[in-house]
Amino acid sequence: MLDNKTILITGGTGSFGKSFTKYVLAHYNPRKIIIYSRDEYKQFVMQNEFKEYESKMRYFIGDVRDKERLKRAFEGVDYVIHAAALKQVPACEYNPNEAIRTNINGAQNVIDAALDTNVKRVVALSTDKAVNPVNLYGGTKLVSDKLFVAANAYAGNKDINFSIVRYGNVAGSRGSIIPVFANIIKNGGTELPITDFRMTRFWISLTEGVELVIKALTEAKGGETFISRIPSFKVTDLAEAMLPGCKMKEIGIRPGEKLHEIMVTTEDSFNTYEYDKHFIVYPQVVFNDRQVPDMSGTKVPEGFSYSSGNNTEWLTVEDIRELLKTVDLEK
Ligand SMILES: NC(=O)c1ccc[n+]([C@@H]2O[C@H](COP(=O)([O-])OP(=O)(O)OC[C@H]3O[C@@H](n4cnc5c(N)ncnc54)[C@H](OP(=O)(O)O)[C@@H]3O)[C@@H](O)[C@H]2O)c1
Repeated sequence: MLDNKTILITGGTGSFGKSFTKYVLAHYNPRKIIIYSRDEYKQFVMQNEFKEYESKMRYFIGDVRDKERLKRAFEGVDYVIHAAALKQVPACEYNPNEAIRTNINGAQNVIDAALDTNVKRVVALSTDKAVNPVNLYGGTKLVSDKLFVAANAYAGNKDINFSIVRYGNVAGSRGSIIPVFANIIKNGGTELPITDFRMTRFWISLTEGVELVIKALTEAKGGETFISRIPSFKVTDLAEAMLPGCKMKEIGIRPGEKLHEIMVTTEDSFNTYEYDKHFIVYPQVVFNDRQVPDMSGTKVPEGFSYSSGNNTEWLTVEDIRELLKTVDLEK
């Protein structure tokens, strides 16, 4: 599917972009991978990291707020992965219009540029925070998701479709709980802060996120939201796994934070199918006859929802300890 194809990643110098690039170069033989982002230094660093693949890599400086630049970059591109985003919750709260310009206007620009060129597939990255959003970051990603679903209406007879991949905090990613605990432990701390003793999270690795994007690229017919079926853990079990016997102090939930990560709401359940390793939320409205569900799955029962709190698969302290060995902490 990816052999001999030209793939462009907006936000390609970010954690997802780098992992995706590494994975694709190791498992496929793409014609070209184009990294599209703003900061030349991050591109310079990535260029050095991927030196051995120089002949396949291209680096475009550009902003997703700039539609003309996107159009130029999309010339000759088969697949676009849209990963560029402002994603820090406090930064989005404090600079709301900047979040809107990048996460919403940028998404529309990506859609327009893809429709105006010969792009075949667009997969946009979403987050659990877009589900019943309680902060502006989630709000902008919800709008972005809606734009990508609706973009299929403009496909007409063109061979192009738009789909979404949704996942939660990646284990070890910047600002997430694992690096926070790791830092306290490194500095000799014996007590770990827990926002709420009831708090739960999903466990997903960047590789699992990358694999789901490749699945969406391969299988999407347009408008689907792909969601991984992954285990949950209690944050108190994570603390115990990282610092056995530690003291834990409940510090209270922070603004914009949820007790449990939600991936599929009860309202979504009417359009949700369950597969071996993932869920697909199908669009409520379809715009062309290519948008047919993959019938190998089972429709979830009415009233179903999928959150880290009501998951059926849980990690024990021992499981977490094993998984922690595989986590790359983002600085
Ligand atoms: N990390 C997670 O735990 C997580 C969880 C769920 C969903 N997601 C989603 O996954 C996607 C990728 O996340 P990530 O963790 O890889 O983010 P990241 O590490 O912060 O990278 C963001 C990338 O976007 C680029 N970017 C930011 N603003 C841009 C703009 N206006 N135009 C062009 N490029 C821009 C950045 O480079 P420059 O600054 O140089 O432009 C960088 O390459 C995001 O859409 C995020 O919402 C992430």
